[in-house]
Amino acid sequence: MAKITPKKLSGLLLLSLTSLCLLACSQKELPTQATAPVTVNQAAVAMPDSYSADVARDILQKGGNAVDAAIAAQFVLAVTLPEAGNIGGGGFMLVYKDQKTDFIDYREQAPLSAHRDMYLDENGEVIPYQSVIGILSSGVPGTVAGMWLAHEKHGSLPWKELLQPAVTLAEEGFEVHPKLASSIERHIARLEKRGFELNFKDYFESAKANQVFKQAELAETLKRIRDQGRDGFYKGETAKIISDFMRKEKGLVTEKDLLSYEAKTRQPLKAKWREYQLLTSPPPSSGGVAIIQWLKMYDLLTRDQQKLAHNSAAYLHLLSEIGKRVFADRAEYLGDPDFIDVPVTNLIADDYLTMRSQSVMRDKISETELIKPGLKESEETTHFSVMDKWGNAVSNTTTINLGYGSSVVVEGAGFLLNDEMDDFSSKPGVANVFGAVGGKANEIQPKKRMLSSMTPSMVLQDGKVVLVTGSPGGTTIISSVYLSILNALEFSMDATDIVNQPRFHHQLLPKDVIRYHDGLAPEVISELEKMGYIMSNRRFGDMHVVLNKDGKLSAASEANGRGKSIVF
Ligand code: GLY
Repeated sequence: MAKITPKKLSGLLLLSLTSLCLLACSQKELPTQATAPVTVNQAAVAMPDSYSADVARDILQKGGNAVDAAIAAQFVLAVTLPEAGNIGGGGFMLVYKDQKTDFIDYREQAPLSAHRDMYLDENGEVIPYQSVIGILSSGVPGTVAGMWLAHEKHGSLPWKELLQPAVTLAEEGFEVHPKLASSIERHIARLEKRGFELNFKDYFESAKANQVFKQAELAETLKRIRDQGRDGFYKGETAKIISDFMRKEKGLVTEKDLLSYEAKTRQPLKAKWREYQLLTSPPPSSGGVAIIQWLKMYDLLTRDQQKLAHNSAAYLHLLSEIGKRVFADRAEYLGDPDFIDVPVTNLIADDYLTMRSQSVMRDKISETELIKPGLKESEETTHFSVMDKWGNAVSNTTTINLGYGSSVVVEGAGFLLNDEMDDFSSKPGVANVFGAVGGKANEIQPKKRMLSSMTPSMVLQDGKVVLVTGSPGGTTIISSVYLSILNALEFSMDATDIVNQPRFHHQLLPKDVIRYHDGLAPEVISELEKMGYIMSNRRFGDMHVVLNKDGKLSAASEANGRGKSIVF
């Protein structure tokens, strides 16, 4: 059933580039001046759909904390947001609780039988799209282990109570949003047009706008997770269904892969920026290093001049020049820190970034070929943000990579498998589906986690969370996140403007291309074109933020999506 017959592989780039990315360490004190517990007396959720928003609110109103709400929302999204919500994928959860920080890395990892050249043909060329669609594109899922670890460390309500809303929505069904129905229709049409015979259609074609859609197999899988915790996925019946299906379809994930998967606790990345504390994602995310580099270089390059106007040509050019340098470093140095030494401290050091920003020209694009990694020595996904009444916060991004992941459903278990293997570098210098290149640092190795751009982040001031932010969108996540921080703190926007202002993204390659949203002024676009930029109007991201301004919370979900935010 789940076979690939690629009649026309060359067209697959058009396949849903809108994958949703939703999002470790012993608990460490933040070096801030916080003293007494911070109570904001309000709570807020900013979620990618109404079901997850309502459930997260209910959990908080029952007395659950931000992590409880995040866990319940994550499982709901596995039911109601199949393009990115998942139990077959992975993600990152950034936690600020009781004034301590934590980071749960539940990123997928390469199966034990994976190897460096697994996507190359006998001539050493990348086999088109094998790492992005179909069963071979899946890494070992991490989501259930991640939620279990988050619950063990921070949960306050019983696990079963957090799982039940998802079980009910899968078993009794939910009303399909028209945007979801048309996204599913388009995805089925694209798969058919390209000649891929996968079982996605069998599972999802009955999801019609404004009608109730039930998922019986998924409900049974969620019940096993509800009743047995992480063992309900990585052991026993679910593990057997997954590994039998993999054997039948010639996939790589085995019982042993599932048994040995572990979510990891990592130290969140922290950096001082202006009077704020940035709290963000460490490797295997590339996003935390990238946003710190971006924001610090922005300040280095603007501190002696008049503030640049928001979304002016000069603003876009400057941030694109910085982006070139950020992405050159990403390609060379970033990967799974359990396999390679990632020089994080050097990459975000003020001296290094001062040197790095010196070659930026205000009126001219730097030659792409001349932008090398700088150290002397080395789309679809989904995001949500939560803050509870005690001031605890969760920023969570989770993904199965592209929209609907590999487009393969585990038959008998009812959930979509990720296509996260494409986030590895299949061959040095060859771009993945997001146009990102990589080399040795991100080559495939058994049990290694593929490099990610997911960047769940927070900004703190004096021990209080002032912004919880994140987005889906592959490599564009990084731009969505740093721009949201600038929108909030450089331009003092409210939550609605932070998420809805037109954004832009430049990542070194493709050469001189700036991707942007509708809404940029036409004269800005033509000025940038005159400079030599190729302006590509293609929307990206789906931001969900919570903003805390002097103890008053606001929250917003991007108007373009089907998100919902509630402050109560
Ligand atoms: N799958 C997109 C990312 O993790 O960056």
